[in-house]
Amino acid sequence: MKVTVFGTGYVGLVSGTCLAEMGHEVICVDVDQDKIDGLNAGRIPIYEPGLEPMVVRNHRLGTLQFTTDAESAVQAGEVIFIAVGTPPDEDGSADLQYVLAVARTIGQHMQSHKTVVDKSTVPVGTADKVRAAITQELAARDAQIGFDVVSNPEFLKEGAAIEDFMKPDRIVVGVDSKAAGEVMRNLYAPFARTKDKLIVMDIRSAELTKYAANALLATKISFMNEIANLAERVGADVEAVRRGIGSDPRIGYQFIFPGCGYGGSCFPKDVQALERTARANAYEARILSAVEATNAEQKKVLFSKLSGHFGGDLAGKRIAVWGLSFKPNTDDMREAPSRTLMEAVWQAGGSVQAFDPEAMEETRRIYGQRDDLTLCDSAIEALTDADALVICTEWSQFRTANFKQLKSHLKGRVVVDGRNLWVPEELAREGFYYYAIGRPVVEPVAGS
Ligand code: UDX
Repeated sequence: MKVTVFGTGYVGLVSGTCLAEMGHEVICVDVDQDKIDGLNAGRIPIYEPGLEPMVVRNHRLGTLQFTTDAESAVQAGEVIFIAVGTPPDEDGSADLQYVLAVARTIGQHMQSHKTVVDKSTVPVGTADKVRAAITQELAARDAQIGFDVVSNPEFLKEGAAIEDFMKPDRIVVGVDSKAAGEVMRNLYAPFARTKDKLIVMDIRSAELTKYAANALLATKISFMNEIANLAERVGADVEAVRRGIGSDPRIGYQFIFPGCGYGGSCFPKDVQALERTARANAYEARILSAVEATNAEQKKVLFSKLSGHFGGDLAGKRIAVWGLSFKPNTDDMREAPSRTLMEAVWQAGGSVQAFDPEAMEETRRIYGQRDDLTLCDSAIEALTDADALVICTEWSQFRTANFKQLKSHLKGRVVVDGRNLWVPEELAREGFYYYAIGRPVVEPVAGS
């Protein structure tokens, strides 16, 4: 099928590329000429495992094209995806201006029937707005051309997006006509080999499904962080509790890892947007507000443990920070707990020596050149002469504690671990103070 994708951000680029990989003819459109030039030259603007070779291969074959020419792209696509950003407004609701601008562009240029697919995460009711915007443009030029609007939320995880798209758990499609359902069934046939993968429903339910899924996952995390905080206060170990509850299949082991708060482009934004939707419909979503508030507090725990160790005085202290991205295998720093920590350290007069396997450039872009931030070439370099180490992201390479290395480079004997990567007793034996999340604090064993 001929597919056009508006937006070459994370979702648009992954979706367009995977659809091309599965045999569709795809044109990706963006207003950003530099980005399009880059993509045409094989430069991928985001880091996502497996994406680059797939883009390059399909681009070479001609099944994946990049352009800024919206008019011909609209005309070419039978199915047109809207995958542009929906950044949160100041009040937390999703800003639909880019989505609706694309809808108007489609209305202005379409010459034949189109199936218009909302892929961006949009509030319930957006499909109606997209439909209205297209209808208005068609009326303005007196054109009578049919079209369908479909809601097709994405459930991609950064760092595993290709895998998630190519082998989805489910494909949710919201339609209001049989024909649109058929188009989507054909489009996704190569991905949904078993029948039950494709879940077809009404449009509003599909729109709500996306938010419900992310909000529930965020709830699991905030819940677990709350239990972790409680565990610290009652002298329990949340890691034991986690294994204990995860073994119940009704609860499951996934998304119950306590940590230093969830970040990223989805959870914070979606929880807030759903809260807004509730309020706009005269309903107070109490659980969502609590999830959000708990997470905001959780992002501060690394600093409070660190500061607590030094009696509230971090002035002049050098803090090594391992992991800056909001999770491993991405360079995405949006809402990352590392940012809350670093900003608090700076505020307290300390400096940061940071290392992340992917997010160094992004960190530089966000914070620029500053005296109290040293971006290091390696994890070891970040440790050098630092008073304490704080682990913010669970990159695989940080999972094994190398005590020889730690002892020879880190000046202080203090580790604050926001991801519970290490074994507390070992740290104590090796002479460290070790602060994890929801676990008893350990102190250096005498004689270590
Ligand atoms: C998420 C959803 O998983 C995905 O389905 C949706 O489409 C987009 O949002 P993503 O934001 O890429 O994906 O990351 P995810 O792996 O879900 O992690 C989100 C955050 O939760 C990270 O900050 C992670 O560190 C945190 N997290 C996750 C925990 O703190 N504990 C856990 O047990 C799991």
